[in-house]
Amino acid sequence: MSTQSNSPTAEFGAREGEIAVELPPRGDATLYYIGRIRTPWQRRADCPKNGREAEAVCTLAVDPRWAQALAGVETCSHLIVLYWMDRSRRDLVFQVPRYHGTGRGTFALRSPARPNPIALSVVPLLKVEGTNVFVRGLDCLDGTPLLDIKPYFASTDSIPDAVVGWHRDRE
Ligand SMILES: C[S@@+](CC[C@H](N)C(=O)[O-])C[C@H]1O[C@@H](n2cnc3c(N)ncnc32)[C@H](O)[C@@H]1O
Repeated sequence: MSTQSNSPTAEFGAREGEIAVELPPRGDATLYYIGRIRTPWQRRADCPKNGREAEAVCTLAVDPRWAQALAGVETCSHLIVLYWMDRSRRDLVFQVPRYHGTGRGTFALRSPARPNPIALSVVPLLKVEGTNVFVRGLDCLDGTPLLDIKPYFASTDSIPDAVVGWHRDRE
């Protein structure tokens, strides 16, 4: 699977009004994919736009190399999952989201198209079986690379009165 889309397919191409920039000549860091995410979705059109819209059970299929890193995960009610949107373009700085119509800067959006296409979701943990971690409600295509798993701490991660002004004020 490609990690950088220089010739995006129609499914992941730019929309009218979107702005792309030239990417830096090289990257600064190397990531390890720690596994793959198994979901029911093969096509972008079928994929939920966020995890809260999805009831499906998804599997974090962790590479056995990292098995010991899962010790204790089974005690968590919720996890933060970080994943790599490998089919996204990485050069868009201004985007027109499918669902909102109005253009916004990439860093004001949760779009998968970003310089480093890292996605995150907070999901309920269902069970851990060996190196398979079963969760509910992810929004990525089947086979999406898994970057990290972290415990969700309601005490520090929850900010109930946080606001995204453009989203709150949209028509
Ligand atoms: C709006 S993003 C949100 C991702 C994550 N929950 C976040 O907030 O960072 C979810 C969308 O990314 C797209 N997507 C899913 N898997 C992808 C992949 N492997 N590569 C590129 N785009 C993907 C789908 O259109 C999906 O609806």
